[in-house]
Parts: sequence; C-alpha cells; structure tokens
Amino acid sequence: MAKTKTHFVCQECGRTAPKAMGRCPQCGAWDSMVEELIETNQTSLNLAQQHGWGGLSIPQKLRDIDDAQEDRIPVPINEFSRVLGGGIVPGSIVLIGGDPGIGKSTLMLQMTLKMADTNRVLYVSGEESTRQIKMRANRLYKGSNGMVTSFPEELFLVTETNLDVIFEHIRAISPRILVIDSIQTVYRPEMQSSAGSVSQVRESASLLRELAKSSGVAVFVIGHVTKQGTIAGPRVLEHIVDTVLYLEGDRFQAYRLLRSVKNRFGATSEVGVFEMQERGMIEISNPSEAFLAERMVNAPGSAITVTMEGTRPLVVELRGLTSHTNFGNPRRTPNGVDFNRLLLITAVLSRRLNMQLSDQDVFVNVVGGLRIDEPAADLAVAAAIASSMQDHPIHADVVLIGELGLSGELRMVSQINARLREAASLGFKKAIVPHRLHRKEAWPGAIEVLEARSLREALKHALIK
Ligand SMILES: Nc1ncnc2c1ncn2[C@@H]1O[C@H](COP(=O)(O)OP(=O)(O)O)[C@@H](O)[C@H]1O
Ligand SMILES: [Mg+2]
Ligand SMILES: [Zn+2]
Repeated sequence: MAKTKTHFVCQECGRTAPKAMGRCPQCGAWDSMVEELIETNQTSLNLAQQHGWGGLSIPQKLRDIDDAQEDRIPVPINEFSRVLGGGIVPGSIVLIGGDPGIGKSTLMLQMTLKMADTNRVLYVSGEESTRQIKMRANRLYKGSNGMVTSFPEELFLVTETNLDVIFEHIRAISPRILVIDSIQTVYRPEMQSSAGSVSQVRESASLLRELAKSSGVAVFVIGHVTKQGTIAGPRVLEHIVDTVLYLEGDRFQAYRLLRSVKNRFGATSEVGVFEMQERGMIEISNPSEAFLAERMVNAPGSAITVTMEGTRPLVVELRGLTSHTNFGNPRRTPNGVDFNRLLLITAVLSRRLNMQLSDQDVFVNVVGGLRIDEPAADLAVAAAIASSMQDHPIHADVVLIGELGLSGELRMVSQINARLREAASLGFKKAIVPHRLHRKEAWPGAIEVLEARSLREALKHALIK
C-alpha cells in the first residue's frame, strides 16, 4: 500500500499545516489543529475496493430501486431492540457511549453472546485481553445451577488496536456483526496522532462507516464519554454514525438507561431500562415498579411524578431536603434534575409562596439514578422541597405532574393521558395536574384527576397537614 499523507487542519478557519501546532497561525485559535488524511487516490473511495468489500456506487433509476423493508437482524434483548428501533439494520453503524465502568462492554458482550448462534460476530477489544473477556462471559453465562452452558458457535474475539490488522481479520472472518471496544483505542497507522485523539477517532470511525456501508456488516462502536459529556471531545463522531445510544445511570446505583439520542432507523429518545447485576445487565420491563421499590411512604420530602422517556411513561420518586445553613450562600444541589430548573423552582417557592429558602441548602434527588430533562417534573420537585421545608408528607397515593411558570402558575405538559394511565396502573389514586383551558380529551377513568391553576393550589391538595 502506498503511503497515505496527512496534514493538520484548523477546525476554526481551515488553515492547513504539515505539523501539529498548539495555536493556529492564521486565526489564533488554540488547540484547533486536527490531523486529517489528505485525499489521494489511495484514500476514501478506493479503500473499499482495496479491502475487497463493495466497490464504486452505481446510480440507479428510482423506479428500479428495491424498496422492500430492510431486513433487520432481531435482537433477543427487548429493551435493547426497542432502543435500536426494532433490531439491527445491516450496514449500519451504531455508537454506544457512556462513562467508563457503566456497563458498555458487558451489554455488548451479552448481546453478542445471545446472537452468535445464528449470526457471526467479531468482537474486537483494545481494552481487555481475550482471557478477561472469556472470564466475563463465564460470569454472564452462568446458568441457574451455576454451570457454564455452551458458548455460541460464531463468536470470535480478538485483542487488537491497529485498524489495518482489524480489517484483515474482518476479511478473513466475514462477520455479520462487528464490535469495536472502544473507538478510543483503535488507530489508523498512517496517521501520526495517537489513539484517542480527535483525528484518530474521527478517521477511524469514518473508515468503519465505509466498511459498514459497503459490506453490509453491522458495526457497533463503543465510546467513552469524557467529563464534558462529549465522546472523546469530538461531537463529530455523532455525525458519522447512524445511531447514537447512551448508556447512563449512577455508578453507585444499579439502574442503567440505554437512551437513543440519534437514530436514522427509528424514533429517538427511546429508552431501555436495565439493572446491573452479577450476571450482567438484567432487563427491567416494568421500570416504574422498580423505581418505586425503595419508596419511603409518608416521609416528608418525597414526591411522585410521571416523566416521559420517548414514548414511555416512567413513574419516579423525587426526594427533596432543605437544611439550614449558617454560611452566606445557600447551596442548590440537584441530582438528576437540571440545576437552572432547580434555581427557578426555588425562586418561585421563595417569591410566590413566601417560603424562607434564602438560608436553606436545598437538595433534590431522583431516586434510581434517572435523569429528568423535562419541566413536567417541576411541580413534583417544588412539592418535594415544600414538603421537606414544612415537614409535612405528601399523600402516598398522589402523583404530581406539571410545569411551573415564573408567577407560580402551572402549565400543561405533553402526553398527559399516557402519564395518568401509567400512574393508575401502579395503583395511584389521585393525580394533581395543571388546569386545562381546552378540554380536548376526557381524562382516563382509572384515576381521580385534580386540576390546579397554581403551585399554591396544588400544594394545598398534595400535602398532609
Ligand atoms: N465480578 C463482577 N460481578 C458483578 N459486577 C461486576 C463484576 N466485575 C465487574 N462488574 C461490574 O461491571 C462494571 C464494568 O462494566 P463494563 O462493561 O466493563 O463497563 P464499560 O465497558 O462501560 O467501561 C463495573 O463497574 C462493575 O460494577
Ligand atoms: Mg469496557
Ligand atoms: Zn485557524
């Protein structure tokens, strides 16, 4: 293979240079020079042919194009399949992102173990030896009697980080599913940048994408999320792949959420729920029930709400705690809800309900390690804080749903009936919701609905005094 050339390109202004530079000589941006492959007849288009998969694209007449539903490869883990949009699309590339230690490798190994009886899988790890992976597989695969049952026929493992070598393996083995664990460990040898750099991550992912498109192999790429919440710095990775799934959850709590944030082949913001156990990631098909398992009934500071994750309603418990502080700046500490949202809610409680929060630290937790992004939980957050502050519990059979406005008014939220039905199915008797201006649809019958115009009115119904 002829030597492929690279250069460094400023991501701000496009200035190129043959060597890495800390600062762009043209626009003055810092750390903006990223290594890129120079397009020669060696790269890109020809790579596919070089490696023997696929070839040049051929324009087709629209009327001749086969529009039969793409055959998906079924995934025998429901919670995973749901997030993918119903199975794996051949030729697609999926990114599984998440913090280190959250369970990405575990989940992928579990999935491939279940699929490799009928689908050939190549699992490439740059992080663990094949022995280590075998040990994990043993742990995941323990039958009910503790005996290891037989492993699937078609699961191949290799520890490798050089993409050229990985492609040799792909050619030799011809897998239907390829797992790269992780994108930060693999590298293209023709580039000077080290593995894990923006350049390597981007170019490696592009090459894997080409592989997927031209050969039909379904590629899963694991990526570690950095503290800033982006994968190895480059958001570019999200643009390269077809589907982005994030595995999230509190490291110290067992629940894990697999969330789709981008999906070319299905709905986004779908969520799958798992519990991390000794035997791996166990599917939780009724998450609301699980989230309420540790619930403290009749304890001040506990409030229940229903949040939507994609099309799926989840009943969750919020806990609030207020505690007197002698220091100047009282703290606001949210865990699972947005910091600015919490500031707004405490401001409304102070100004509209005359609650003396200026000398109180306020803590809010979502039980189970869930993260709530939508304002529909405002009312429950406010109620949890008020309940703790006044030391009055909230009625145990009540759920609180609603967005809070700056004047303490309540605003209706989307998909209210789906939320109410979920609450009813778990035995909740009453829901406190925003007042409706337009009565489009009847409330679902199974739960008593109390409409409140304001936070003050809602709290009057919610708190036991
Ligand atoms: N023997 C074990 N029993 C139960 N859980 C384990 C065991 N070994 C590791 N784990 C769990 O698996 C997690 C690592 O998961 P892993 O799939 O390697 O994460 P990631 O690939 O996202 O970094 C650890 O945080 C730990 O909680
Ligand atoms: Mg891992
Ligand atoms: Zn520049």
